[in-house]
Amino acid sequence: MQMIIGNWKMNGLQASLDEARAFAAATSGDTHVIRTICPPATLLLPMAEALQGSGVSTGGQDCHETASGAHTGDISAVMLADSGASFVIVGHSERRTDHGESSELVSRKALAAAGAGLHPVICVGETRVQREAGAATSIVLEQLSVSIPENLQPGSFSIAYEPVWAIGTGLVASPDDIAAMHATIRDMLLARYGEAGRTVAILYGGSVKPDNAATILRIDNVGGALVGGASLKAIELVAIVQAARRPV
Ligand code: PGA
Repeated sequence: MQMIIGNWKMNGLQASLDEARAFAAATSGDTHVIRTICPPATLLLPMAEALQGSGVSTGGQDCHETASGAHTGDISAVMLADSGASFVIVGHSERRTDHGESSELVSRKALAAAGAGLHPVICVGETRVQREAGAATSIVLEQLSVSIPENLQPGSFSIAYEPVWAIGTGLVASPDDIAAMHATIRDMLLARYGEAGRTVAILYGGSVKPDNAATILRIDNVGGALVGGASLKAIELVAIVQAARRPV
């Protein structure tokens, strides 16, 4: 099953729930795709209620590493689960950049998420400077080796490869570059978990749109997409879900 996750980032007011409802209605036949929307935390509970029974799940965009405590402004994985979430994005490059999050912290967040019964989507990706320096693969492998907690079971988490330079820019990695990076990530998972490493979905993210989704989603080892800008409009996210391949 491919997984299409919409990341609304810091966008969305109560009125935006209509987009989520429209998305759920238009994709109700696409049960071969895991469909998830990660709205801002303010919309999690009403969105979970609006989407109840639709087959579309909800997720958080980040979580704290602990369950509760004196951390003004933070939200824990337990709270996300309590608001109906089943997924949570951790280690998004915007969190790594805006909030200085390290891979060590991302690993602790992923563990907290799994402990709360959520499915963490662990994000990694190189910057333009790193790619141009020929360091993309080593950076991504280093981020993965630290960001994936040692005792997380394969199948209980997913990975999103998102080249930082492709996020929100309209630039997309070439199919060859995506195939090469996803194969490298798969090899790393196989080395770590044996055959069970095949159960980890590796999503691609970065300017995924209706017009490039089919190409991206057909690349070997691409298990879905993490979609930012295009997830804000139901019609675009519907088209991306429809581009996801059926299991063979
Ligand atoms: P984008 O964002 O689709 O707007 O490039 C992707 C992401 O940041 O997850």
